[in-house]
Amino acid sequence: MKELFDAELRDPDGPMSRSELFNAVARADVLVPTVTDRIDEEVLEYAGNQLKLIANFGAGVDNIDLKATGRKGIVVTNTPGVLTEDTADMTMAMILAVPRRVVEGERLVSSNQWEGWGPSTMLGHRIWGKRLGIIGMGQIGTAVARRAQGFGLSIHYHNRNRLPISAEEELEATYWESLDQMLAHMDIVSVNCPRTPATYHLLSTGRLSLMKPDAYLVNTSRGEVVDEAALATMLRQRKLAGAALDVFEHEPAINKELKELSNVLLLPHMGSATIEGRIDMGEKVLINIRTFVDGHRPPDRVIAKLIE
Ligand code: 8YV
Repeated sequence: MKELFDAELRDPDGPMSRSELFNAVARADVLVPTVTDRIDEEVLEYAGNQLKLIANFGAGVDNIDLKATGRKGIVVTNTPGVLTEDTADMTMAMILAVPRRVVEGERLVSSNQWEGWGPSTMLGHRIWGKRLGIIGMGQIGTAVARRAQGFGLSIHYHNRNRLPISAEEELEATYWESLDQMLAHMDIVSVNCPRTPATYHLLSTGRLSLMKPDAYLVNTSRGEVVDEAALATMLRQRKLAGAALDVFEHEPAINKELKELSNVLLLPHMGSATIEGRIDMGEKVLINIRTFVDGHRPPDRVIAKLIE
């Protein structure tokens, strides 16, 4: 970034404060935010006329008010594709970890409480032959499906649009037009859709109650897609068997009740956290900025209408 542009980098890894953001948009021609920088109407009010591009370092753009950027004629780009496989790997790890009680087992050993093998010790549930319901069959959902096939899970999905028949055949995937009906039949549900106004609390109390009491929920997408408080209550009441969550509604805060449950695996939004992935994301950001600055249409321009 520094070789190519007159760049001001923020060295600490933490999020920018609101006043730092106000200051940045007032002076920069291009802003490169991450998921922790909320670029809303208030921030954009401070934007000077020189701000023409927001090149998001991340695939999800729910941290940016696209209506407000549209009104101001600011172009937004993101980094799709390069975190697909890493996020799908993490999702698969979480799908395996909770039913097979991997973290509970590790805790048993590391707390010196393991008293040796027993026929009914640490029994979990079999993965092979179970039904996986994927909510959001985009690039990440599809990559999860490919992996899950290898683990003997049957693939079911709900998506705004049905996949072409050839893709369904390749994944041996069953399409459910009704999310409610799919939820009622799944053993494991994986959330892989973006957070948009339409997906906010998509998994509400009502929808979570449709799931089988022995089902598991995995979320590597955005916390806001699930009603976190409702989920915590249902897990505590054993109305769901368990959950693996990498994202939360109010990161880095996590519902207190969730932290106290043993049938839950909580991770710090690390689905795409690989060195290779971060380098690829950075390359994408650079290509988007360079192309834009050279007067061309950047390859990863976000079209607001397409993701609503
Ligand atoms: C990124 C993500 O780490 O790209 C996304 O949408 O959720 C994360 O995996 C983050 O967005 C970086 O800003």
